[in-house]
Amino acid sequence: MTLELQRVTKTYEQGGISKDALKEVTLKIKNDSFNLIIGPSGSGKSTLISIASLLNTITSGEILINGNETSNLSENEKYHIRRDEIGIIYQRENLFPYLNVLENVTLSQITNDKEYAGGLLNKIGLEESDKFPDEIPAFDQQRTALAQALINKPSIILADEPTGELNYSETREYMSILKRSTKDCAVLVVSNNSILEEFFDNIYFLNLGRLK
Ligand SMILES: Nc1ncnc2c1ncn2[C@@H]1O[C@H](COP(=O)(O)OP(=O)(O)O)[C@@H](O)[C@H]1O
Ligand SMILES: [Mg+2]
Repeated sequence: MTLELQRVTKTYEQGGISKDALKEVTLKIKNDSFNLIIGPSGSGKSTLISIASLLNTITSGEILINGNETSNLSENEKYHIRRDEIGIIYQRENLFPYLNVLENVTLSQITNDKEYAGGLLNKIGLEESDKFPDEIPAFDQQRTALAQALINKPSIILADEPTGELNYSETREYMSILKRSTKDCAVLVVSNNSILEEFFDNIYFLNLGRLK
């Protein structure tokens, strides 16, 4: 899918103070493209991911999916777009501690295609799918979150600092897995780690809510 942000501004109001987390951000993520936004802490990365996934409201501007405006969609329509088209990897990864790896990955699977789920775990290199999140290292937790995001064959993956907890070699391996497993899928990663740059086709910089 193509995902476009057109002059998107997000202002948070808190305790009578307003704060622009994003300022007139314009960005186009094309079909099957591999995109990175680098920005320091507080620059608006998580806000941008939450907005791109239609989970957060915007103050002004427009978000287009495949050229169609999304501002007038109902919550139900947005839910279906998220469920069918978007795979989200959250900054604090969203694994349920009382479900094992396989159960975490298949929890939101629309079809009950066990073969596909097994193949996906294989492709991502998750061998111990009966372990619980607190029994596996950060790298495996992060790969579980990736499999979770891919389970419904999304057309776009949105990932918020997916390598934040990984060391240098794990980061490189994670990036090659991400690239391999998203061949027919657009990807947007936000991160503060510039060692990711070499893996991406399109790189943007976010600072104080402004994208360059
Ligand atoms: N729910 C919120 N209410 C008020 N301010 C927020 C909220 N979420 C984020 N912010 C502020 O918006 C700015 C951008 O935050 P965020 O998107 O989390 O940036 P990043 O992910 O790059 O660290 C920060 O100044 C943060 O304090
Ligand atoms: Mg963040």
